[in-house]
Amino acid sequence: MNELWSQNVQGVMTLYLSRRLRFDDLFFPQYQAVFGLDRNAALKILEIGCGPGALAEALLRWYPRAIVTGIDRDSRFVAFAQKSVKGAAFLEADATALPFADQTFDVTVSNTVQEHVEPGAFWGEQLRVLKPGGVCLCLSARKGLKSAAPCLEAAPKETKFWENAPDQEDQFARLQVCRYPMTEAELPAAMERCGFQDVRTGYAVIDLTPDDPKYTAEKALAMIEADRQCDLEAIRSMRSPDEAAAVDAVNAKYDERLRLYRAGIRQWDTTVCVTMILRGTKPV
Ligand SMILES: C[S@@+](CC[C@H](N)C(=O)[O-])C[C@H]1O[C@@H](n2cnc3c(N)ncnc32)[C@H](O)[C@@H]1O
Repeated sequence: MNELWSQNVQGVMTLYLSRRLRFDDLFFPQYQAVFGLDRNAALKILEIGCGPGALAEALLRWYPRAIVTGIDRDSRFVAFAQKSVKGAAFLEADATALPFADQTFDVTVSNTVQEHVEPGAFWGEQLRVLKPGGVCLCLSARKGLKSAAPCLEAAPKETKFWENAPDQEDQFARLQVCRYPMTEAELPAAMERCGFQDVRTGYAVIDLTPDDPKYTAEKALAMIEADRQCDLEAIRSMRSPDEAAAVDAVNAKYDERLRLYRAGIRQWDTTVCVTMILRGTKPV
């Protein structure tokens, strides 16, 4: 049983809710512009490091004839995806030793996984399980923008909690998180070095602005709740005796944000996520 990621780095809801927003159908044209996949083909797609399964869920909607399999090392993520995402298969496996025969898949895809896995093994294994001419898609989060509403600034009890918490950087180094970061220039070069051809890049820009009328109330509330769950799971991952006060402070600020939204008092707070998308082809 491996729960290292879900217990210490990012929780199930942090990933599932934030990714459901990033992979909303509204943004599909931006992804598809680089993916370039046939929407009517019965593609065999493998998602590497699928977490709780939100991208796999989107792929099933976007490519209705596709056969989607997700793998992740974290047991809790895999169990959540198996329960929540119907129509895809999920299994516990390591990206550096994929439990599939050579030339099994038409497409491999990953979102914010490359930076955590040794590049030769990460791309080498995908190259091995792809059919000749198969497509490797690598999505990588880049620096975005965040402008918080005043009501969401950390309350003193929350600030105190984080001042007393163990240093997260040390924790992440111990868990080997983000050991292989690459710049926007290094990523495509590394993919080519690992044997992919016809490498292309593009960017999806996802703006999450609850008050923007282009979003339904349901989506706006989902944005606020996703941030709340992210903060709560981060606090709980510290397993601190001071947790209760920080949890109350976080709940109070998000309750206030919801009240302002429902009252039509606009805050125009925004989170803009920039995702780099790389597409490479396995030589025929
Ligand atoms: C930042 S999370 C992204 C999860 C998911 N792709 C998403 O966007 O919600 C990184 C994921 O990679 C997984 N992971 C890290 N190293 C792995 C490896 N060697 N094999 C399989 N999964 C791995 C972690 O368990 C975690 O679920």
